[in-house]
Amino acid sequence: MKAIKLTAPGGLDNLALVDLADPGKTGRGEIRVRIHANSLNFHDYLVVTGKMPTADGRIPMSDGAGVVEDVGEGVTEFKVGDHVVSCFFPLWQDGPPDVDNFASTPGDGIDGYACEVVVRPANWFTHAPKGYSHADAATLTTAGLTAWRALVVDGHLKAGDTVLVQGTGGVSIFALQLAKAMGAEVIVTSSSDEKLERARTLGANHLINYKSVPQWSERVRELTGGRGVDHVVEVGGPGTLPQSIASVAIGGHISLIGVLTGLAGEVPTFLLMARQARLKGLIVGSRREQIEFIRALDATGIRPVIDRSFSLAEIADAFRLQEGASHFGKICLDF
Ligand SMILES: NC(=O)c1ccc[n+]([C@@H]2O[C@H](COP(=O)([O-])OP(=O)(O)OC[C@H]3O[C@@H](n4cnc5c(N)ncnc54)[C@H](OP(=O)(O)O)[C@@H]3O)[C@@H](O)[C@H]2O)c1
Repeated sequence: MKAIKLTAPGGLDNLALVDLADPGKTGRGEIRVRIHANSLNFHDYLVVTGKMPTADGRIPMSDGAGVVEDVGEGVTEFKVGDHVVSCFFPLWQDGPPDVDNFASTPGDGIDGYACEVVVRPANWFTHAPKGYSHADAATLTTAGLTAWRALVVDGHLKAGDTVLVQGTGGVSIFALQLAKAMGAEVIVTSSSDEKLERARTLGANHLINYKSVPQWSERVRELTGGRGVDHVVEVGGPGTLPQSIASVAIGGHISLIGVLTGLAGEVPTFLLMARQARLKGLIVGSRREQIEFIRALDATGIRPVIDRSFSLAEIADAFRLQEGASHFGKICLDF
């Protein structure tokens, strides 16, 4: 079978298409899945560029979707022909978080899904939403589930709430779609007026260009009549957190998700305290949460926004597109 291997120390020129032995038959509790799509995440980018070092020869990509080709003894949840999507934390099945690292994450601590066939425990996958293409389904593992967890699991989003999403990448566009489907008002920031107009077509109520309005939190407060927003989907990290705190309503919720501007910085602790806001770190979610998220996608009919898809062999070009940050929503590999 074809697969992508990443040679140490990483870097987009160290991604190679190789032939590997077929993984063979299923054992007890396992399924064999023909993978047809991956989606790219900032985390995968950090791994393949060597910024988050991994083992020499690692198969990258945490998000994989495809078709069940064989089911092992004892598997009742899946049958041959089912469309499935992988889990980001395959060992975190249910309950509160029990993991704070990527040792068990496919495409990082273990081999991922940039390959044609895998044999894995059945509970490392869930069913895909009805009517989704494989590329659509592959967007759910990381970006989709993170947005769901931020707003619904941790944020207890309800109709009438106001949500602020930062930028127009994978997590943020999912958050916009979920928030709109659930009856919230959404403010979107972006570096690009063109992308903001695309966000408007997805239902965004208010648009702010964070390049031309560097003090965007002031605009957020104006737009909310001085109240601030109920939820912030905070993907920027230290470069955006102070303004996220300035943007949040009293008693609001900030989901601390991203590291786009770095890994550490100053926090205006007094303002956070005064706002009596919840600042909640999170990494993706459990398999149970993925199942509930997919049920919500079936109910709402949300379809992921895919900017562009590439073949498996074009993986480096796909990451170059992500690096350039000209994309809107998700970038996928479709094979
Ligand atoms: N904790 C978790 O579970 C989790 C899960 C998924 C992702 N993440 C993190 O979340 C972040 C976003 O991930 P992603 O996969 O959605 O990335 P992505 O698709 O590559 O999105 C990048 C986009 O973020 C926007 N952006 C960049 N700098 C910004 C800034 N200073 N202020 C506002 N927006 C900014 C840009 O949008 P515009 O072009 O519109 O300006 C850019 O296109 C990454 O740091 C990633 O590691 C964390």
